[in-house]
Amino acid sequence: MAPGRIAILGATSTVARALAACYAREGQDLLLCGRSLPEAEKVAQDLSLRYGIAAEACLFDPDLPDYPQVLWRLEGGPPLQGVVWAIGTMSAAAGEAGPDDIRQTTWVNFGAAVAAIEGLLPAVHAKGFIVLLSSVAGERGRRKNYVYGAAKAALTTYGQGLNHRLAGRGPRVTVVQLGVVDSQMTWGMAGGPSGAAPEKVAKAIIRAVRAGRGRVHVPAVWGPIMLLLRLLPEPVFNRLQV
Ligand SMILES: NC(=O)c1ccc[n+]([C@@H]2O[C@H](COP(=O)([O-])OP(=O)(O)OC[C@H]3O[C@@H](n4cnc5c(N)ncnc54)[C@H](OP(=O)(O)O)[C@@H]3O)[C@@H](O)[C@H]2O)c1
Repeated sequence: MAPGRIAILGATSTVARALAACYAREGQDLLLCGRSLPEAEKVAQDLSLRYGIAAEACLFDPDLPDYPQVLWRLEGGPPLQGVVWAIGTMSAAAGEAGPDDIRQTTWVNFGAAVAAIEGLLPAVHAKGFIVLLSSVAGERGRRKNYVYGAAKAALTTYGQGLNHRLAGRGPRVTVVQLGVVDSQMTWGMAGGPSGAAPEKVAKAIIRAVRAGRGRVHVPAVWGPIMLLLRLLPEPVFNRLQV
């Protein structure tokens, strides 16, 4: 395992908080980045107090002009052990998303991730890792969420390409295709399958990173589910309310 801090981008997300807690429990120092600095500071203080780690908070807002703000903080410092991209936002229901929503959804879920990860690459240890939290929504376009799904599909493809580029000579890249997780993002959503517990999801992500997986479904049950969904012939698929 490479030395150094792990930077979590979108550290206020439900999944990221669980991931940060798992790492902190192991004594891992963290850089916690979020668009709300006070909220990121609360997470950092809580983890430092509970687990005695060094946790620093940093403003990180894809909507601000000097994005990605975290870069100046890392200049000249020791390399990071890893970077986790946890930021994501759901668009309005398909057919109801206007141009601003579409622009924001594609930027926040995809463009902002690419800009940040490309900028941060030189700051990551060559034996370190990069994790991108993508989604099963990107595996086959569905009527309910295809704007979000298309942005996540682009993020997955970016992660695969980066993995290919860095193979054998840079940090390992793990694209995590998350199924439904019980989080801020899914609270109150009716009709879907019940979500996985964030703590279990966090542990599975850490295992996948340590195993050097390039792409992984979390929870694992989503692998066969999505395989089936991808293979369904169009006339059958189009009749499904998924
Ligand atoms: N939950 C699921 O079922 C599920 C399924 C598949 C994939 N994922 C992906 O997993 C990742 C973590 O999601 P989660 O479930 O933990 O969701 P979450 O709790 O809603 O967290 C979303 C994160 O993205 C940040 N964010 C949202 N819009 C932003 C914007 N415009 N600018 C900057 N930051 C923004 C949020 O910041 P604030 O805290 O400041 O709002 C928060 O840190 C996301 O990439 C999500 O797409 C989740």
